[in-house]
Amino acid sequence: MTPSMSHRFRTTLRGIGVRQVRLVCGIILFSYLLSHFLNHALGNISLEALAAGVGYHLVFWQFLPVAVLFYAAVLTHGGLGVWALYQRRQFSRTTLEPLQLLLGLSIPALIFSHIAGVRIGHVLYGHEKLYPQVLYSYWAGPSWRIWLMSAALLTSWTHGCIGLHFWLRLKPFYRRAAPWLLACAVLIPALALLGFYRGGRDVVSASATPQWRAENLSVRQMGVPSEQASLELIMNGFLIGYLGLLGAALVARGVRALNERRGGMVTLSYNNGRIIRVPKGLSVLEASQRNNVPHASTCGGRARCSTCRIRVIGDPGGLPAPSPREAFVLAQVGVEDPSIRLACQLRPTHDLSFFQLFMPNLTPGERGGQRSGIGQERYLVSLFVDMRGSTSLAEKRLPFDVVFIVNRFLGAVSQAVLSHGGQPNQFVGDGMLALFGLAVDPQMACRQAIEAAQAIATNIAELNSVLSHDLQDPIGFGIGIHGGEVIVGEIGYRDHMVFTALGDAVNVASRLQDMTKTLGCQVIISADVYARAGLAAGMLPQHEVEIRGRAEPMRVRTAMDAVELARQTRPGEGDVA
Ligand code: FES
Repeated sequence: MTPSMSHRFRTTLRGIGVRQVRLVCGIILFSYLLSHFLNHALGNISLEALAAGVGYHLVFWQFLPVAVLFYAAVLTHGGLGVWALYQRRQFSRTTLEPLQLLLGLSIPALIFSHIAGVRIGHVLYGHEKLYPQVLYSYWAGPSWRIWLMSAALLTSWTHGCIGLHFWLRLKPFYRRAAPWLLACAVLIPALALLGFYRGGRDVVSASATPQWRAENLSVRQMGVPSEQASLELIMNGFLIGYLGLLGAALVARGVRALNERRGGMVTLSYNNGRIIRVPKGLSVLEASQRNNVPHASTCGGRARCSTCRIRVIGDPGGLPAPSPREAFVLAQVGVEDPSIRLACQLRPTHDLSFFQLFMPNLTPGERGGQRSGIGQERYLVSLFVDMRGSTSLAEKRLPFDVVFIVNRFLGAVSQAVLSHGGQPNQFVGDGMLALFGLAVDPQMACRQAIEAAQAIATNIAELNSVLSHDLQDPIGFGIGIHGGEVIVGEIGYRDHMVFTALGDAVNVASRLQDMTKTLGCQVIISADVYARAGLAAGMLPQHEVEIRGRAEPMRVRTAMDAVELARQTRPGEGDVA
């Protein structure tokens, strides 16, 4: 494994937390549900179609490695659900989270009789219950069993859909795909229930014939009454054990709350003058939510977005150390300052004063709520340009002159960015951040950014020749380019919201731009962007540079000027070295 691969591997490992494990297990379980429900839907065609479908379903899900993965996911996801019941101190009242947890915790109780009848009966007594036997036991038995199964089906599906919504809502394609996903989310369980009904009616009418009963309701398939009684005992035992487990989690919550009250309260002071007192053990975000203090939290406290960031006033030395997940997220957004923490992860043990770094958007619907506008996670290329020598320019000229020259500079840069598909995003003094990839794929975004850098250099050369009679020295500049997953969305306060990108890739691009001064070049492109753009290998010189906040050095390509950049960047095989 190369050093950069092992670095990436370690970085990925550091980013794995309980939520990531829960998500992966949830996806496995949702895939099972999807396959099972599509199978149910075949009941709308015929009993033969149901039988054929279950054959494929079982071949896949009973394949040993898949079965092991599936049962591990069942146990892990279920265990994490009970853990969440104990561990979450406060749920956001404006989101679906409490409903999702309630539905998730109901599933084992609703589904266990089905599992006991089909799987445990098979393992203990060799019962062979497929659709004919299962449908018969529902539709020829007491009607509450039909309602119970329908409730289990809808509960598990709704729980899974809410989980998928939380996972996907930050993805760029989600807004476009949402209507289609919603249609599937409604259609699939509706078809599954209809198939369950149609299949059940077909089985009941077929069971009127002695031959069908002899073929489908034999002792080998259905078992004997004593075996059924044992299965019911197991089922009741499970139900009592499970409810006891939930009760124990609730009692543990109560005990913890009492201990926390005895252990003392902490005072949290916000920058707007608000002061609240909460028991120790709550995260700062949970404390805000409990006391209706607006607090930005785009990901809902899942340690994914960093919008809940706070800057602690005073000595941050007494704070609990960041968890690996918190440290990972802070590193991703380039935070090195120990006084900046994630409010959703920090559980203060002492009084705390802090600033919220992102103010929530207080629209009427969210007043008293917690979330600012939802952002999107996506791959973007950031290009930072900064004008050189503007300070000495300002010393020697009238302010109007300086503004004129800086505006000409930013105009030339913006024109180059726009003509290559980028978007000028932020103007900071005499510098600019441009974003590429808002409407194109990553490879095209990388190419556009590099071509825009060439065009910027050309435009500035022209500007220098136009202003040559008026400038002692030509205008200089530095460009840094890097790409990666960032959060894009609106940030700011009330009427002062701006669309921008936040993330490690943006910070790195800015640092590469700074580095052009020390490396004595005009353009620095991260090797990753250069490789993605599919440019011919080995053309621009490569360096390894240290980036503040990154454990490993980073490979970059440098160009002394536009001529070298234009000459050495031509479409090729792609440099993946
Ligand atoms: S709320 Fe998203 S990281 Fe804290």
